[in-house]
Amino acid sequence: MTLQIKTLEQYKEVYQESVEKPEFFWAKQAETFHWQQKWDNILEWDFKTPAVKWFEGGKLNITENCLDRHLATRGDQPAIIWEPNDPNAPAKTYTYKELHAEVCKFSNALRANGIEKGDRVCFYMPMVPELAIAVLACARIGAIHSVVFAGFSATALADRIKDATCKMVICSDYNARGAKNIPVKAVVDEALKQGCSSIEKVIVHKNTGGEVQWDDAKDIWWHDTMKDRATTCKPETMDSEDMLFILYTSGSTGKPKGVVHTCGGYMVYTAYTFNNVFQYQEGDVYWCTADVGWITGHSYIIYGPLLTGATTMMFEGVPTYPDASRFWKICEKHQVNQFYTAPTAIRALMAKGDEYVNGHDLSNLKVIGSVGEPINVEAWNWYNEKVGKGNAPIIDTWWQTETGGIMITPLPGITDTKPCYASYPMPGIQPILVNADGEEVKGNDVEGLLCIKFPWPSMIRTTYGDHERCRQVYFSAFENMYFTGDGCRRDADGRLRIIGRVDDVINVSGHRMGTAEVENAINEHPAVIESAVVGYPHDIKGQGIFAYVIAQEGTAGDADFEKELRAVVTKVIGPIAKPDKILVVPGLPKTRSGKIMRRILRKIASGDASNLGDTSTLLNPEIVDAVRKAAGV
Ligand code: PRX
Repeated sequence: MTLQIKTLEQYKEVYQESVEKPEFFWAKQAETFHWQQKWDNILEWDFKTPAVKWFEGGKLNITENCLDRHLATRGDQPAIIWEPNDPNAPAKTYTYKELHAEVCKFSNALRANGIEKGDRVCFYMPMVPELAIAVLACARIGAIHSVVFAGFSATALADRIKDATCKMVICSDYNARGAKNIPVKAVVDEALKQGCSSIEKVIVHKNTGGEVQWDDAKDIWWHDTMKDRATTCKPETMDSEDMLFILYTSGSTGKPKGVVHTCGGYMVYTAYTFNNVFQYQEGDVYWCTADVGWITGHSYIIYGPLLTGATTMMFEGVPTYPDASRFWKICEKHQVNQFYTAPTAIRALMAKGDEYVNGHDLSNLKVIGSVGEPINVEAWNWYNEKVGKGNAPIIDTWWQTETGGIMITPLPGITDTKPCYASYPMPGIQPILVNADGEEVKGNDVEGLLCIKFPWPSMIRTTYGDHERCRQVYFSAFENMYFTGDGCRRDADGRLRIIGRVDDVINVSGHRMGTAEVENAINEHPAVIESAVVGYPHDIKGQGIFAYVIAQEGTAGDADFEKELRAVVTKVIGPIAKPDKILVVPGLPKTRSGKIMRRILRKIASGDASNLGDTSTLLNPEIVDAVRKAAGV
C-alpha cells in the first residue's frame, strides 16, 4: 500500500518532501505496487508540447494490482457490494476471488470476440457490476475503455464512438432507474445507425430482461459469451505510458474531447489519493454514489478502491427512490464507513426534509465527501449536522476529469475543515494562483486563476486524436503551467476555495457542460437563428441552463416551441443538457468584433440587472434593454 498520512505534522513534512524531491516521493509510492518490470525513468516532462511521462520503461497491468495482488491476503473479502435499484432485491457481493474470476472470464470473452491490445471499447451501461467487470477486463487485455454515461443521447454516443473509432460496444438491455426501466440497447441501435462503421460487435448484458431488437450478425448476449470461459487470464504487459482509458468531457469550445489517461501514473495516483483522502482501514465499507460514466466513478468506485484492497459499493438506483431516505437506508444496511457524493444530491435530499435522514443509524460514517461542484454553506452545514452528526469530517474534494484524481482536499482528522473550502493540496500537487497575465498572485486573502505548476502522475496526457487541442486548452494560457479553467480564492490562512469555472463551461448538477455544445444543439431547430447559453444560480442543480434564443417571429412565449427546443437538445446531447429557461429575444448584446457579451447575459439570467457595467462599447447597446424587458428584470 502507498503511504497513509496520519498526522498534521506528517502532512506538512510529506508535502515539503513532495515539492523538494518529487521524483523521490513518487518513486516511493510507485514501489508499493506490483510492476512486471521496474521503470527506467521516474519523470520526464515538458508543458510546452506537452509531453509528460511517468515511470517510463515500467511494465505493469493495473488489474494485477487491483485483483491478483489481493488474492492471497484478502481473497474472500468483498471487493464489490452491489445494491440494486429495487430496494426489495438482495444486494450482491463479489469477493476479490470472485471478481478476479469474473474479470478473467470476460477478458477471455473479449479476446474470443476479436478485441486486442490497443482496441477501443465503448461502454454504455447502467450501474451494474458487469460494468466494473468489463472495464477491468479491458484493462487486463490492454484494450482501451471509453465509458459513455448512459444518460447521453444516441447522437452523443455515436459522436464518441466515431471519435475513438471503437470496435465494440458493451451495453445492457435496460437501465433500472427508480420506477422506470430506460431502454439502453435501443439507444445503442440508434447510435449505430449514425455512421459508426468501426463497430463490429455489441455485447449485451441482460439487466431487466425487457424486449430488445436483435441483430444476429453483431449482437451477442453477455451470458452466452461468458459461458464456459476459463477463470484465469494472463494479463497483457503494458508500458507505464500505454493508454488505459479515454473519457469524454466538455470544454468551452467544440465537441467534447477524449481525455486520455495512461496506466502507470493513473494507478499510482488514484490509489495514493484514495488511501489518504478517505483514510480507508482494512474492513471498512466505502461508498461513492457517482456513476462510472464520469471520472469520479472510474477513479473512486473502481480503480482507487480496488487498488487499495477496499470494499467498494456500487448503487444502481437514484437517491430519491423509493423515497429520499434511500442513501441513508443503504448506509445503515451496509454499515458504510466512507460516503462520497455530490452537492447536488445533498441539496436535493436536504430540500425533501430532515425526516428522511433522521432516525437512520449512520454511526459507522467516519468520512463524508463532496465532489464535482462548489458546495454551498447551507448544504455543507446540513451534510455535517444531519449526515455526519458532527463526527465525520467533510472532505470537499476538488479535481477534474483531466487531473485523474483528487488534487485539493482536507485530509479527514488530519487537516482542518472550513465550509466551502477544498482547502489544501495533496502532497505532490503544486497549485498556483495567477492573474490574467499569468503573474503569480502571492500572499493570502487573494483570488486568482487556478493552475498547477508541476506534473503529477495521473494528469491528462493528450486529448484523443488531437494533441494540439490538449496543448491549446490546458497548456497555452500560461507558460509552463496546467490551467484548470477554475477561479480560486486563498483565505487568510492559506486554504483554497474553488469559485467555479472562468470559461464557457457550466456545471449543472455536477455535470460539466460546454455552453457552445448546448447552443449548437439548440441551433439545429429550423426556427432558431442564433442562441446564447449561460449558467444561472439554481437551488438544487448549482447552476441551471439559461438559453437566449433569436428565432423566427411568433415563437416568443410559445410553449410548443420551447418543448421542441428541449427535445432537440435531448436528442443531440441528452436530457441532462435541457435548458431550464428559454427566452426568445430580439437580439444578443455583442462587442464590435461580433462576440456575444456573456457577462451581461449571465447577469440578466441571475435576475439581477442592477449593475451591468459599461455597455456603451457594444455594437448594439439598445438590445440590452430589450433583453432585460424580455427577461422581466
Ligand atoms: O469547476 C470545477 C468543478 O468541476 C470541474 C471538473 O468537472 P469534471 O471534469 O466533470 O470532474 C468532476 C469530478 C471530479 C472543475 O473544473 N469541481 C469539481 N470539484 C469541485 C468543483 N468545484 C468546486 N468544488 C469542488 N470540490
